[in-house]
Formats: sequence, C-alpha cells, structure tokens
Amino acid sequence: MAPTKVCQAASRTSFGGSIRQFHPLFGGTNDVSRSTFHGRPYGLRLKRIAYHGAPPIRWYDFRSDFLEGKMIVIVRPKNILFLVSLLAALAAPASVLAQAAGDAAAAEKKEFTPISGQAGKDVVWVPTPMETVGLMLDIAKVTTKDFVIDLGSGDGRNIIYAAKRGARGLGVEYNPDMVELSKRTAAKEGVGHLAEFIQGDMFEADISKATVLALFLLPDNLNKLEPKFLKLNPGTRIVANTFGITGWTPDLEQNVEGECRAWCKVILYTVPAPVSGDWKVGDERFQIIQTAQTLSGYQIKGRTSLPLQGRVDGNQIYFRVAGVNYSGTIKGDRIEGVAETKGKRTPWRAAKA
Ligand SMILES: C[S@@+](CC[C@H](N)C(=O)[O-])C[C@H]1O[C@@H](n2cnc3c(N)ncnc32)[C@H](O)[C@@H]1O
Repeated sequence: MAPTKVCQAASRTSFGGSIRQFHPLFGGTNDVSRSTFHGRPYGLRLKRIAYHGAPPIRWYDFRSDFLEGKMIVIVRPKNILFLVSLLAALAAPASVLAQAAGDAAAAEKKEFTPISGQAGKDVVWVPTPMETVGLMLDIAKVTTKDFVIDLGSGDGRNIIYAAKRGARGLGVEYNPDMVELSKRTAAKEGVGHLAEFIQGDMFEADISKATVLALFLLPDNLNKLEPKFLKLNPGTRIVANTFGITGWTPDLEQNVEGECRAWCKVILYTVPAPVSGDWKVGDERFQIIQTAQTLSGYQIKGRTSLPLQGRVDGNQIYFRVAGVNYSGTIKGDRIEGVAETKGKRTPWRAAKA
C-alpha cells in the first residue's frame, strides 16, 4: 500500500528523543531511529507503537521535510480509526503546550504585588500613607514648575501624586519589580509622561535636577545622603516623612490631621547655600562656620573678634553680631544686603576672601 500523506504541520527543526517525550499518553515500546533523505538525516522511524485507545499498528514511517520548512507525516495505517486517534494525539500536545504557554504568559502578566515591610537594599519598603503624601506635597508647595525626586521611590506614589499636580519627577528605586509597578501605575494614572522611574542605587543617583526631594528614609540613609543634599541648588526643598536629617534645622514640622495611624509627621528643609569660610567686608572680616543651615563664627576687626550667630535659608543669610542684624542674598562668592542697628539700615557687601 502506498504511503499516505496525512498532514502537514509547522516544522520543528529539532525533534529528538522518543515519542514518549512528545506526548505522555503514548506508551509501550518505542523504537526510534534516525532515517535519511537524500543522504541527510531527516526524520524518525518508529516501530510498533502501542497508543492507548488505538488499534495496534505494526509499522509507520514518520518523516520531516526540512527543505520546505514543513513537517510531512507519512503513515501506513491499518485502519482509518488509527489516523483519527493519531491526529487527536498529535493535536493534544499542541493544545497542552499552548495551554502551558498561555499559563506562563498569564503568570508573567500577573502583576507584582508589594508587601509592606518587604526587604530593600538599605531600607525596607513601607509606603507613605496617602494622607502624608498629600501633606508632603502641600508643605513643599509642589507646582507645575517643580521637578520632584524620590530616592527609594517604592511603588512610586510620591512622584505619581506630584505628577498629578503637574510636576515632573523621577523615582529612583533599587527593586526592579517596584520600578515596573511604578511605571504601570503612572501610566494608569495618566501621568506616565511626567513621572519617570529608574532602577538604581539612591547613593549613586544624579539628583542635581531636583527642585524638591520627597523622601521616606531612615535617619542613617538621610545622613549618608547629606553631602549630596548640600550640593543641590540652594533653595531646593527637602520634604521628609517622619525621619529627619541629623543636624539640620527644619523650616516646618507638621502632623497629618485626622485619620493617620502611622508615619504622619512631615518635615520640611530648605537646602542652604554654602557660606563657610572667610568673607571680607570693608576692613572687617567675617569668619563663618556653617553646619547645614546654622551659622556661627566671628567678626574680626583688627585685634578684636566678636562672636556671630545666624542661619542660611536657601540663598538668604541672616546673622547677628555685636547688636547688629545682618541680612543679605548670597550670590556665589558675594553677599549683598542690609545691616540694621537701632532702626538704622545700612547696605553692606561681602566678598569671599
Ligand atoms: C520606606 S520605603 C519608601 C517608599 C516611598 N518613597 C514612599 O514614600 O512610599 C524605602 C524604599 O527604598 C528602597 N531602597 C532601599 N535601599 C535602596 C537603595 N540603596 N537605592 C534605592 N532604593 C532603595 C526600598 O526598596 C523601598 O522601596
């Protein structure tokens, strides 16, 4: 009886092993050996297959036409029922595989769900409560002109809600799953064009573009980040949930009113301009020692030295020495302002010595 071409299916370039591997329903003794086509190995010859539910078969050939990229199955069936059974069996693995592939894709699609308290590189993930997020953005007076950065951005909420106020922002998060989750949420909230999220280490991140930092980190993390904060443009606002920066003086501390059980305190700082060092004012010299926004030091005139105390608020400097109140604007290595004593106002200028 002439071989009967029964089906064409998509080619598999490697179809090795026994037919047991191809479908678990196949049983009995499979004799699988390579055959040749125009001198090249091309397919498999199977002898005596006992297929559950199918009548016994003595022989059939199984060949693959690799040249056309198709698989051609040629069989010598004893009866047509076997063909139907064989086709069903061959179809079954495809559906099983399709099902498995579908399941894998679905599992992949299944969204990652973070758990409060989950491990993080330098601090665990605990989300800022939404009421606190709102207060942080209010206190920092975030507007459409701002560029907000969150270091350790978690699920992205600080940046996403800043973006909902029209601000652009960047979240830097070590956990890649959290980064992807943040991106998805930003897109769902319609602010994907304003809110960017990157996987990275907060201690390595470039934060120079920030006009606002919105943070929820441990004091240790904040203190380690302090040198980076001090390099930010003077006037940049740092708004922090609950934990502050050691040695920094808050501009404001406020608690969320009403429903807020934990992580309800918001602390605001303004990055100070650097003013440490010696400044010349006429024939006087101010020797300024700066710790974050707090100033101490001396006014030195001839052999006289008088203590000074003051503060820096962004680019604005205020200090008092010998009953005179100095205020001014820091412009790099110059300060211009007014000295006031007993109601009398006198302009003053200083240059970095
Ligand atoms: C307390 S959560 C704050 C999350 C978010 N900022 C908020 O306010 O909801 C701290 C986050 O920092 C992340 N984190 C820990 N170490 C980090 C590092 N070195 N660089 C970047 N992210 C880090 C954690 O994965 C976690 O998501």
